[in-house]
Amino acid sequence: MAIISSITSKGGSNKSGTTLLLATYFAGKGKKVCIIDTDVNGSVARWSGLRSEDLPEITVVSMMDPKQLQRNINKLHDDYDYVIIDTSPGLAQKSSYTMLYSDLLIIPALVSGFDLWSVEQFLERYDEVMNVKGERIPAYVFLSMYNPRINLHKEFLEAIKEMGEEYEVGVLKSKLAYRNAYKISTVQGMSALEWNDPKAIKETEEFGKEVEKILKAYE
Ligand SMILES: Nc1ncnc2c1ncn2[C@@H]1O[C@H](COP(=O)(O)OP(=O)(O)OP(=O)(O)O)[C@@H](O)[C@H]1O
Ligand SMILES: [Mg+2]
Repeated sequence: MAIISSITSKGGSNKSGTTLLLATYFAGKGKKVCIIDTDVNGSVARWSGLRSEDLPEITVVSMMDPKQLQRNINKLHDDYDYVIIDTSPGLAQKSSYTMLYSDLLIIPALVSGFDLWSVEQFLERYDEVMNVKGERIPAYVFLSMYNPRINLHKEFLEAIKEMGEEYEVGVLKSKLAYRNAYKISTVQGMSALEWNDPKAIKETEEFGKEVEKILKAYE
């Protein structure tokens, strides 16, 4: 079983979107998947309520207290192939706990100056937590709303890469462009991987494959 957290300090940076992409990717491959929703807004729990029974099954569990995760970790190990944790924004103790229980951290970020600063803030905390742990959990920044034809976006990518190197954190090769499929699919209880935009399907498949490959490399 692998635990993947979609985690960063800033709100609205595609944490929940990333969670849904990973969950639907692995569920679509026939894996047993559980999403742990740690956000008080419970967006993923609502998403799950809209999901058709004809689609691959994904269990959603709400856990506001990270100690609940500690108590349930053995059962999760027995029952699932992948556990994806959708975190809430902020750098509270809850976020550090979540990091410690994860096998892989995906740090979603939109192409914006605010996200650049918050990634740096998150990486500082990541560094502190990993120093306490005594080993580094693999972590990768995942960019969304990225357009490779815009110079400013390329500069943003370079800045994120440089920042990542400083903290031994990678940047995923796969990135999401700005697409309505990411917004519309969720209100239907799906992810863009299950929606009808071929470009979104292609880039989300690439994302899933890249994450799978990273997990294999650390097995
Ligand atoms: N590539 C994209 N194209 C279009 N819209 C996107 C893209 N990526 C993310 N979004 C949109 O950005 C918004 C924020 O995403 P999301 O809710 O996943 O962020 P979050 O980090 O979970 O927020 P919160 O901190 O409130 O939990 C959503 O409306 C989502 O559909
Ligand atoms: Mg969210």
